Amino acid sequence: MGEHIKQILEQAKQVIASCADELALQLLESRFVGRKSQLAGLMGSLGQLSPEERKTAGILLNQAKQEITELIEKKRAELDAIKQNMAISRDVTLPGTKPQIGHLSPLTYINRELIDIFKELGFEVAEGPEVETEKNNFDLLNIPANHPARDQWDTFWLKHVKDAEDNTLLRTHTSPVQIRYMQNHQPPIRIIAPGRAYRYEAEDATHSAVFSQIEGLMIDKDISVAHLKATMLHFVHRILGEKHSIRLRPSFFPFTEPSFEVDVSCGLCVGKGCKSCSHKGWLELMGAGMVHPQVLHNVGIDPEIYSGFAFGAGIERLTMLKYGITDIRLFLSGDMRFIKQF
Ligand code: PHE
Repeated sequence: MGEHIKQILEQAKQVIASCADELALQLLESRFVGRKSQLAGLMGSLGQLSPEERKTAGILLNQAKQEITELIEKKRAELDAIKQNMAISRDVTLPGTKPQIGHLSPLTYINRELIDIFKELGFEVAEGPEVETEKNNFDLLNIPANHPARDQWDTFWLKHVKDAEDNTLLRTHTSPVQIRYMQNHQPPIRIIAPGRAYRYEAEDATHSAVFSQIEGLMIDKDISVAHLKATMLHFVHRILGEKHSIRLRPSFFPFTEPSFEVDVSCGLCVGKGCKSCSHKGWLELMGAGMVHPQVLHNVGIDPEIYSGFAFGAGIERLTMLKYGITDIRLFLSGDMRFIKQF
């Protein structure tokens, strides 16, 4: 009889474990421990055994019954919990789980800030394509083919046939947007043009082949370096803080004359010199200058009547300065740990 009881117990364990609903469990209960169950039948036949056998068989039967009853109770509690959970998840009044949504790049935040700052000064946003013509990117900006100035912009060429009229490239700066805008608008002009630019160069912590710039252009009568400087200072104060000062250093760009590098005083040592500014006290922020008369002439604006200034700033660079980011490659790394900090 012991063997038989063991068999029943094993079978009960298996079917109870795989039981998935309450009704089925109820049927199992009557099948294994009900009045008409096999165990009950065995219980009824105890009388036919010798007193010795009856005792051990009785104990085994009771143990089996108890064990099966406990398994059924446990299963019932489990099924109950599942049912309750389902009821909860159907409760439309409970707050839902928030879906994971994306996160804006710090560059987007800075861009929005920049646009707001310049909008207040009356600047409009202009845009141009990232795939540019050689003409807009170089020639019309007073950078002719074979001129050594072209070395300044290592270029990703898309079509580069000597002397061809329709050569294309990935724009190496946002300056061609100046050309596009001036070809279609007469002064007064006040625009900024944020966007991507590309340079064929080795990447390291401060250089990326794909980066963003913001171009600025203001053309009107009697615009001078004073306007340029005041605009730059206002821009730096607003984006980096009032404690910063700027300085203009002589520089060279074929499309501006005179040309400058605009430096900003180091935010850490405030101009005194520290490790982050290589002990110079100043950090290079952007290129700028008075629009070259030849460029105005190229787009049909009379340089005898109008003058203006232009600037081009690296947006990653600005963002790195503002937030103390030390590696430009983080911007395109797709690393959420970086992105989520902004
Ligand atoms: N286009 C220049 C560069 O990317 C920056 C610049 C813009 C300089 C406008 C002067 C005026 O290097």
